[in-house]
Amino acid sequence: MGYSRTRFNNFRNIEPREIKWFPGLNLLTGSNGSGKTNLLEGINILSGWGPLERGTRSSSLPTWDSGSSEVQLTGQIDDENGEIIKVKISSRYAIRIEDKPINAADLRWKIPVLSFLPNDMSIIEGSASFRRRLMDMILALIVPIYASRLLDYRRGIKQKTVILRKGGRVDLIDRALVPLASWIWKMREEVLVMISESLNDTCALLPYPTEISLLRGGAGSLSLPEEDFRYALKTNKMKEQALRVPVVGPHRDDMLIKSNGAPASISLSRGFRRRVAIALILAASEGVRRKLGKDPVLLLDEITAELDAEGRELLFCALLERKAQVFASTTEPFAENFPGGIYGVDSGRVEIINEN
Ligand SMILES: Nc1ncnc2c1ncn2[C@@H]1O[C@H](COP(=O)(O)OP(=O)(O)OP(=O)(O)O)[C@@H](O)[C@H]1O
Ligand SMILES: [Mg+2]
Repeated sequence: MGYSRTRFNNFRNIEPREIKWFPGLNLLTGSNGSGKTNLLEGINILSGWGPLERGTRSSSLPTWDSGSSEVQLTGQIDDENGEIIKVKISSRYAIRIEDKPINAADLRWKIPVLSFLPNDMSIIEGSASFRRRLMDMILALIVPIYASRLLDYRRGIKQKTVILRKGGRVDLIDRALVPLASWIWKMREEVLVMISESLNDTCALLPYPTEISLLRGGAGSLSLPEEDFRYALKTNKMKEQALRVPVVGPHRDDMLIKSNGAPASISLSRGFRRRVAIALILAASEGVRRKLGKDPVLLLDEITAELDAEGRELLFCALLERKAQVFASTTEPFAENFPGGIYGVDSGRVEIINEN
């Protein structure tokens, strides 16, 4: 599952030309500012996820000074039907598959994509929101109603915050949050089990045995999610009233990543932290394949950064083992031992350099 070819018209600095892709590994090489991340972003949008950075305005996507505010991205799915996806962006996004409208959530399910951006290094060392984003991205792919339930939960938490600020009673909103919060905990715990199942066989990419588990936000004393949520609400009632913010629930969750028994964020070097972060994405993609019966496309930006020769070799080995379509970018001028297609990107122009 993946894209056999794409064409981006009036999109950022990318030349409007058809590019043919390999079903396996595609390595985008080029200097800083050449357009590698823009290409990955185009593919991300074509798969129903939108721009890579949250909050990117659609007005920043058309090629500067082109005189047109409309972007058109086209991609052909690499399977026996060869369906064509078209995304037109002006003030809003219009997605069509074989000329029939489709919504972004259905497209994400049809052609699953997982992205790993330089910022995602923060999965290991950054704030808990990066780790929640990882869990949520995977769950949105494999559980169709997850995204909308999460949205309902977030709306509830917003409402609860308003009530707490006014010093009002939160019993009613808490009651409405119980089923949502406990369901989200259950889903997040299941997804971490799913990732764990493939984590320790990602081609020795992990420097040490690694364990992951969910730290339920403000809770965790009882095992059943629903009881735990109710109990934590009760014991934190005074605290929530004093702080005037909700302190219990999935919006405060974290994922504990332990490497060789110690938290990875403090025990590992940067290169090793990067290897663990990539291993998490690869294990997640294997889990998605098992759940959906199709391999997600992987978008990996700046993959070789901070990896030594051994780390790179292990990375390529792990990518090959995945058998998924991978689009990976690097500023390294050559990657001779890369077992796939190598593309040179120069001022938005993409040329195939090498077919392995
Ligand atoms: N709407 C646009 N129109 C034209 N050019 C744009 C537009 N948006 C961004 N760019 C330019 O595209 C160029 C390529 O950006 P991109 O982030 O893809 O480079 P990159 O190859 O990933 O570089 P790096 O190795 O530094 O990450 C940037 O120099 C940026 O100024
Ligand atoms: Mg880049």
